[in-house]
Amino acid sequence: CGIVGYVGDRPSQQILLNGLRRLEYRGYDSAGIAVIDAEGALHERKRAGKLQTLVDDLAAHPMADGTTGIGHTRWATHGAPTDANAHPHLADNGRLALIHNGIIENFTELKDELLAEGVEFRSETDSEVAAHLIAREYRRVGDLEAAFRAVVGRLDGAFTLLAIHADQPGVIVGARLNSPLVIGLGEGENFLGSDVAAFVEHTHSAIAVGQAQMVVVRADSIEITTFDGEPAEGEPFEVTWDAAAAEKGGWPSFMAKEISEDPEAIENTIRGRFHEGRVTLPDLDALGEGYFREIDRIIIVACGTAYYSGQTAAYMLEKWSRIPVQVELAHEFRYRDPVVDERCLIVSLSQSGETMDTLMAVRFARERGAKTLSICNTQGATIPRESDAVVYTHAGPEVAVASTKAFVAQIAAIYLLALHAAQARQTLTDAEVAHILAEFETIPDKVREVLQHHDRIRELANWMADTRSVLYLGRNTGFPIALEGALKLKEIAYIHAEGFAAGELKHGPIALIEPGQPVFVLVPSPRYDDTLHPKIVSNIQEIRARGARVLAVAEVSDAAVLPIADEVFTVPPTDPAFEPLLHVVPLQIFALELSTAKGLDVDQPRNLAKSVTVE
Ligand code: G6P
Repeated sequence: CGIVGYVGDRPSQQILLNGLRRLEYRGYDSAGIAVIDAEGALHERKRAGKLQTLVDDLAAHPMADGTTGIGHTRWATHGAPTDANAHPHLADNGRLALIHNGIIENFTELKDELLAEGVEFRSETDSEVAAHLIAREYRRVGDLEAAFRAVVGRLDGAFTLLAIHADQPGVIVGARLNSPLVIGLGEGENFLGSDVAAFVEHTHSAIAVGQAQMVVVRADSIEITTFDGEPAEGEPFEVTWDAAAAEKGGWPSFMAKEISEDPEAIENTIRGRFHEGRVTLPDLDALGEGYFREIDRIIIVACGTAYYSGQTAAYMLEKWSRIPVQVELAHEFRYRDPVVDERCLIVSLSQSGETMDTLMAVRFARERGAKTLSICNTQGATIPRESDAVVYTHAGPEVAVASTKAFVAQIAAIYLLALHAAQARQTLTDAEVAHILAEFETIPDKVREVLQHHDRIRELANWMADTRSVLYLGRNTGFPIALEGALKLKEIAYIHAEGFAAGELKHGPIALIEPGQPVFVLVPSPRYDDTLHPKIVSNIQEIRARGARVLAVAEVSDAAVLPIADEVFTVPPTDPAFEPLLHVVPLQIFALELSTAKGLDVDQPRNLAKSVTVE
């Protein structure tokens, strides 16, 4: 869910709605706002559906404005996306409003307690429980901060909570546990948000609120305390990107814009991180001198697209550093009692830095003595703050739910890590590292060349709009790229899609091939590899003989593939290590264009949210 708050001297409705617009990627089942007007009356409006439904409703039936307000955009957990379940939730006869992101795990017992006292609930959410608990305390102590403090310690699970009370205009009280909250500092006004996108158009000066901290925010002051009331400090930082970077800027969708930014995402992630043929990553100093010579294992943890970038990059991480690497879905990892100790480095991959499953895997590993490295695209997010070291990807804000530029940036970042480790362990010679880096620098331009296929892929997608199933085949790094291609199609085009290791074809999936079945095949370069290339050519022959429609991604000079594929999207020659960064691009564009051809909402696919802050 997305959360925004404003307190200052300006009317807050528009500020809240603009913030919600930028946060909508965090959830878009329903949205709502609450403000306190000059007379000290609280007004609230909330609607199921996308933010636009709320905006239209407010335009048709205007509501009084006020200079203190909170807003919420929801991704449903407890209770269907209905008007009643939307936030804010009201209590104390409509004088207190509360918004919540996360899950209150012990809400059933708390609710029973309130029900026994005769409290009436209007929604099925866990969040409304917090509103009534605070209201009950408020009636006792007459102060929002004190009431809030009495309640937060009783809540288990994950929450960011913001509350306002009509009796105390000009104050927003907030708290966070296992869920993010950032303050934006203005002049005579302050902002709150689940991330900086909520307020980046107003200020670049931000404070990340720490774990289990409470805040009391007024127009001209900010107080941060622990849940027990001890003074505490947040972590100040400057936002490095501009509001314009999170706007569509003439593109039909954020996803289209973000795919076009694949080259810059790689460029900005590697910029300044190697000099004269050597990787220099001071970000890793925090792990300690000689660290990479001491560890005996790396475990990558991630979810969704980040998991596939981890699987892809793991090939080179292991090959170059000679450290055994395993890649795990974060939510599977910690529940199977894995072997983790201080000789093991946990690398978490997360665009948002907030994915709860990934955060919990990181905490789990820390408890077992492992060091943790976060590869993340979002400053001030929870996972990097809780990790021993962080290497930021500089892909810029990613808004579309389906991740694209963050995917390529994550691979680029792990490659830097891999080369850093290889230098430290001397598993590559200086000449080898220099050679790899020289090629690395050419990759953004090579991705630009691949982007030239966009129009042709659009034609193909338009023509395939009725397709019900698409398969993806690859070997080596092409295997996780096949999985990622299939995931993109499922996520935004709602088409059944599966990725397979091409070698596995004859062990089962080939039974799926019938005349007309579209199959993307990722073909490694014939120049470097005299083992994989002929094998994948044989795979193409096998599926072609059974009527498959072969859509190949292959090197520009690949004479063997041209005559046997129905369609070939060429990529410029590169070192096999960098092929995945080129091969994934046509698959991203294909999913985008197929979703568009079907008339779907590319950026906000059904049932999904970009940042899943619940387990
Ligand atoms: C969600 C999104 C995916 C994303 C995954 C991991 O499931 O829908 O697109 O890949 O979370 O997100 P992260 O922010 O941790 O990279």
